[in-house]
Amino acid sequence: MTDGREQFSSRLGFTMAATGSAVGLGNIWGFPTQAANNGGAAFLLVYVVFACLLAYPALMAELVIGRHTRSNMVTALPLIATHRRGQFLGKLAGLYGVLVASLILAFYAIVAGWMMAHILAPSARVIGLPAFSLWLTDFSVSRNVIFCLIFSVLTALVVANGVRDGIERWSTRLMPVLLGLIVLLIGYVFTQDGAMQGLKVYLIPDFSAMTEPRLLINAMGQAFFSLSLGVGTMLIYGSYIRQDENLPIAAALVTLIDTGIAFLAGLLIIPAVFVALKQGVEIYDDYGSLVAGPDLILQTLPVLFGSLGVAGVAVAAVFFLLMTIAALTSSISMLEVPVAFGMEQMKLSRCKSTWLIGAIIFALSGLIAIYFDWLFVAVVDLTTKYSQPLLAAILCIFAGWILHRDRLLGEIRSGYESVESSWFWKIWPPYIRFVCPMLIIILFVQGIIGQ
Ligand code: TRP
Repeated sequence: MTDGREQFSSRLGFTMAATGSAVGLGNIWGFPTQAANNGGAAFLLVYVVFACLLAYPALMAELVIGRHTRSNMVTALPLIATHRRGQFLGKLAGLYGVLVASLILAFYAIVAGWMMAHILAPSARVIGLPAFSLWLTDFSVSRNVIFCLIFSVLTALVVANGVRDGIERWSTRLMPVLLGLIVLLIGYVFTQDGAMQGLKVYLIPDFSAMTEPRLLINAMGQAFFSLSLGVGTMLIYGSYIRQDENLPIAAALVTLIDTGIAFLAGLLIIPAVFVALKQGVEIYDDYGSLVAGPDLILQTLPVLFGSLGVAGVAVAAVFFLLMTIAALTSSISMLEVPVAFGMEQMKLSRCKSTWLIGAIIFALSGLIAIYFDWLFVAVVDLTTKYSQPLLAAILCIFAGWILHRDRLLGEIRSGYESVESSWFWKIWPPYIRFVCPMLIIILFVQGIIGQ
C-alpha cells in the first residue's frame, strides 16, 4: 500500500513535523492568554488533564487511521467503513475536515502576518521610518493582506517541496531554534521587576474557577487546537509515518512536547505581561480581567521591549521571529490537508495542488481581512470551538467502533510487538469508544447551553 507514497525519513523526522504542527500560535499566544483569563494555574491543571485524557487518545486515533489507510481523511474514513452509510458519513466528515482545516489556515495566516510585521516594526522606528513602523503595527486592511500574503507564500513554498524536503526538513531545523529562543527570553524576563507577580498568577491555582463550564470548554478547545486534532492534520502526518514506528510512544512524545512548550510559553508571557504592568501598561480591561486576544501580546509586549532601548529592538525581533517560526511549522501542516486531498482525489501534482489551493485559501484570508469585524471571531469560533471537537469525536468513533478491532490491533502492533499485553491496549480501545466521544459531547453541549 505504500508504493510511491511519500514518507517521513525517520522517527525524529515525524516527531519534529508533528510537534512542529502542534506547537504554534496556539501554544505561545493562545495558551498563556487563556490561562491568564481562566484562573491561571487552575486552567493549567485542567488543560494538562484534558491533554492526557482526551487529546492524547484522540491523537492516537488519528495517527492509527492515517497510517492504516495511508491516505487523506476524505479517502481514509470511507476505506474503514464496511457499510454504505458509514462510507457516506465518512466521506462527509472528511470533506468537512478539509474545509475546516482550510478555514483555520485562512485566519491563522492573518495572525501570523501580524507577527511578521512586528519583527520589522521596532527596527523601522530606530532607523528613522516612524510612518512605516506605525503602518506595521497599526491595524489596517493593507497591512493585514500584504503580510498574510507573504506568510501564505512561505507556507506554500515549504509544502510544495514535499514531505521530506519541505515539511520534515524545515520542521527539524526550526523547532530547536524555537525552543532555544523561548528559554533565552524566559531567562531575560525573570530578571525584570514584576515577573514574580506574574509567576504567582500563573502557578498558584484559583480552584473556584475550576468547575466553571466556560473553563472546561475553553480548556478542551485549547487542547484540540493545540494538538491540531479533528481536521485530518495528524491523520495525514500519520499516513507518512513509517511502519516500524511505535505509535503510542510517538503520540505520547508529541503530546508531552506540545504541553511542555505551552507551559514554557506561559512562563514567558504571563510574567512578561506583569513586567509590562510595572512599566505602566494597562493590562486589565474594564471588567477586571486581563486584556484578551491579540492585545495581550501585540500591545503589552512591544511596550516592554520598547523600554529596553536598543537591546529591545533585538529582543522584539527575536520574539516575533519565534512566533513566526512556530506559526510556519503549523501552517504547513494545515495546508497539507487540502493539498493531499487535491493530489489524491483530484490527481493534481503536488506543485499544482499546493499553489492552487494556497491561492484559494489566500482569497478566503483576504475576505476575512476585509470584513474582519464580522468574520474573524465567527470563523475562529465555528472552526475551533465547535467543529474541531465534534470532528475529533467522529474520528474516535471511526477508530473505536468502525475500524475492525483486529485491524486496529494489527496496525499498532507494527512498531510495537507486545502491544496486546500492554496497559495501553487494555485502556485505549474502550476509551476511544465510550469515554472520549461522550466527554466531548457533554462538554460541547454544556458549552453551548452555558453561553
Ligand atoms: N496546533 C497549532 C497551534 O497550536 C495549530 C494547528 C496546526 C492546527 N494544524 C492544525 C489547529 C489543525 C487546528 C487544526 O498553533
